[in-house]
Amino acid sequence: MKFTDSPVIDVSVLDARLSLHQDNGSMHVGTSVWPCCLVLLKFAERWHPLKYSDGETPNPYAQLLDFSNKRGVELGTGCGGAAMGLYLLGLREVILTDIAPVMPALKHNLKRNKQALNKTLKTAQFYWGNEEQMKLLKPPFDFVIAADVVYLEETVAPLIESMEGLVADDGVVLLGYQLRSPEAHKLFWEMCVEVFEVEKIPHEHLHPEYAYEETDVYVFRKKKKNS
Ligand SMILES: C[S@@+](CC[C@H](N)C(=O)[O-])C[C@H]1O[C@@H](n2cnc3c(N)ncnc32)[C@H](O)[C@@H]1O
Repeated sequence: MKFTDSPVIDVSVLDARLSLHQDNGSMHVGTSVWPCCLVLLKFAERWHPLKYSDGETPNPYAQLLDFSNKRGVELGTGCGGAAMGLYLLGLREVILTDIAPVMPALKHNLKRNKQALNKTLKTAQFYWGNEEQMKLLKPPFDFVIAADVVYLEETVAPLIESMEGLVADDGVVLLGYQLRSPEAHKLFWEMCVEVFEVEKIPHEHLHPEYAYEETDVYVFRKKKKNS
């Protein structure tokens, strides 16, 4: 399911607005904007320290979502919505990665949003599990971002390896998730809990206008060695 068939999807981030152009007719899933990236981004925006304003109740995500001076990388970024949005929420640097055929759509979207971003963000080809490409990204990262990337059983192991190899020991993986394939789903969660402590964001904490029953946000932290 795509988010909408409209060729352009606009999403506000604090005072800015991203405009994402998608091509649903292409043979590459990365040229479409998928709901997970918007659900993840709008969750982060909802609880962002600059946005959160309930003076009586402390913000449970204030520390998690303090992006200032932090580096991030997005895996399977597609049209780039999640990474661009988290950059607007304060990341100092973010690298948007995907496979070669998706790069033209990604670069087109970065150009389209250059004014809102006030910068052209870095991109890199990264096929999950490719160690040479991983080194070039210069890990470790404070944030590894991923949205709707679990749908092929054969890519699950390299995806988790890449998350583990890129995230700092005290960093986090922010994942927008939707069940796409029962086989990939089963393997992904079996392998994940070997490597990461997994926190699922309660559904009621998602942004009310960007919450779908089938879509979740997870936070992964590396398991401490010997634990
Ligand atoms: C369903 S799309 C999601 C795109 C984007 N994150 C979003 O939420 O709109 C999955 C993305 O993962 C990328 N991808 C799939 N397999 C990959 C692999 N083995 N290495 C790198 N990227 C991959 C695809 O090219 C695509 O951009």
